[in-house]
Amino acid sequence: MSEKILVIGANGQIGTELVTALRGIHGAENVIASDINSPNYAIRNSGPFEFANVLDKDNLHHLFDKHRPTQVYLLAAILSAVGEQKPKMAWDLNMTGLLHVLDFAVEFKTSKIFWPSSIAVFGPHSPQYNTPQYCVMDPNTVYGFSKLAGERWCEYYYVKYGVDVRSLRYPGLIGWRANPGGGTTDYAVHIFHEALKKGKYQGFLSAQTALPMMYMDDAIRATINLMDAPAENLSIRSSYNLAGISFTPEQLAEEIKKHIPDFEMSYADSDPRQAIADSWPKSIDDTQAQQDWGWQLDYDLAKITGDMLTNLKKII
Ligand code: SER
Repeated sequence: MSEKILVIGANGQIGTELVTALRGIHGAENVIASDINSPNYAIRNSGPFEFANVLDKDNLHHLFDKHRPTQVYLLAAILSAVGEQKPKMAWDLNMTGLLHVLDFAVEFKTSKIFWPSSIAVFGPHSPQYNTPQYCVMDPNTVYGFSKLAGERWCEYYYVKYGVDVRSLRYPGLIGWRANPGGGTTDYAVHIFHEALKKGKYQGFLSAQTALPMMYMDDAIRATINLMDAPAENLSIRSSYNLAGISFTPEQLAEEIKKHIPDFEMSYADSDPRQAIADSWPKSIDDTQAQQDWGWQLDYDLAKITGDMLTNLKKII
């Protein structure tokens, strides 16, 4: 059976790359991109697009009814840093949007739903190193506890209504095709742009702040692998830990210097995002993803850095 795929929040950092990948696999006409904003160039020119506001239940219902998607990827969200500036809006968008999609998945018998979670579901009392799948979780950002609550809803809809929901706790994501949208890990993308444009960058996290990160190619592959995995192999219906690789701003700057020897890195004296980063894990244990659906990372720090610089150079 051919798939009909709806990607909601297609203009964002993940959506831009995921739509391109899915159109390559399933055919452009079978992947409907949607977003609250006008589509970006790559999406507009490569297949169908619909405007969608996940908070507008009637509009979303119409989209499900019109396209009868077999798979839905719900990527519309407010991330950690912006969420702290607009806490109620972040909660509303991140929760209500998910509940609308889960309800329509029941009504329209959508075969599979993908919803992204995050390392932000962990908090200051979670183990900081090799954070396991199951542990104390006391997130203290609105983004983090909206993702944790969302994970519980995903599992609930799987158990109660049989919705085949799949989810990953993404680390910070690094890619060159699209910009990140207001998170705490955004520095790890901005640094590459500034290194190429200005030869220097002032980071907003301290030199020694280690965080789990992942290259977008790995993140897209993980997403598609998880969605392709046989349902009976999946033991987790909340969200899978995904480790990526952990590094500090200083380590990233050193890696960039191997390509741009004059690159100058400096660090802001204070920034509200530091407290968010300090509450998150420094590294993650993703044994369950490896066991259940064969997950394996490809890009290490050197490979990410080389690929980012090579590709960004062509478009900056
Ligand atoms: N990258 C996200 C953020 O920084 C975490 O999921 O908000």
